[in-house]
Amino acid sequence: MPAGLQRLFDIDVRATPVREHGVDDNPVRRATSTTGEAPGSVGRQAGRVPRLLIVHHTPSPGMQELFEAVVKGATDPEIVGVEVVRVPALSAGVSDVLAADGFVLGTPANIGYISGALKHFFDTVYYPCLDATRGRPFGAYVHGNQGTEGAVKAIRDITGGLGWKAVVETVEVMGGPDKGALERCWELGATVAASLME
Ligand SMILES: Cc1cc2nc3c(=O)[nH]c(=O)nc-3n(C[C@H](O)[C@H](O)[C@H](O)COP(=O)(O)O)c2cc1C
Repeated sequence: MPAGLQRLFDIDVRATPVREHGVDDNPVRRATSTTGEAPGSVGRQAGRVPRLLIVHHTPSPGMQELFEAVVKGATDPEIVGVEVVRVPALSAGVSDVLAADGFVLGTPANIGYISGALKHFFDTVYYPCLDATRGRPFGAYVHGNQGTEGAVKAIRDITGGLGWKAVVETVEVMGGPDKGALERCWELGATVAASLME
């Protein structure tokens, strides 16, 4: 079992609400070598620990597994100096987004689109955050049982409008999550968190 996936089963993320952490080898190097803030971004606040915000809609045990894998990756002990905050999509708001330096978005595919919960999140934060968050890194995972294309496109379109920068390909998972799906979610979390390491 890969070291990263092994760690997935070693730590109970539900007992660790907010943490600062480090990263696994490849995701860190890949992410840190490709990130940087675009013109128009207000940048990070001096003296503050970079913050990753995980905004997720998690309506089932399968999606909980994916969410936990993302958190495990983002809070890997080798990631240092990154605060990881997770907020359900129906509770996340403008202040959460403005306070974050990067994002992971998680949603089921619902009726060919993102969940209503994540859509509500974007409806709430889009214009208030448009100017301030341009250029910030993000990644996403989508779970479905029939087809995730519409949800993936919606995330691409909305984040494109916001000017957020994808630092990892969106993870698409169909059906019950297997080992490979959990590994990809772990790497998603690690990669976006690593992109915030200074
Ligand atoms: C109203 C509704 C619409 C859905 N639409 C889609 C869809 O368009 N594409 C898809 O792949 N899955 C669709 N699903 C399945 C959900 O994505 C799935 O229930 C969710 O990811 C959780 O999966 P799980 O219950 O197997 O863990 C839909 C589910 C519901 C309840």
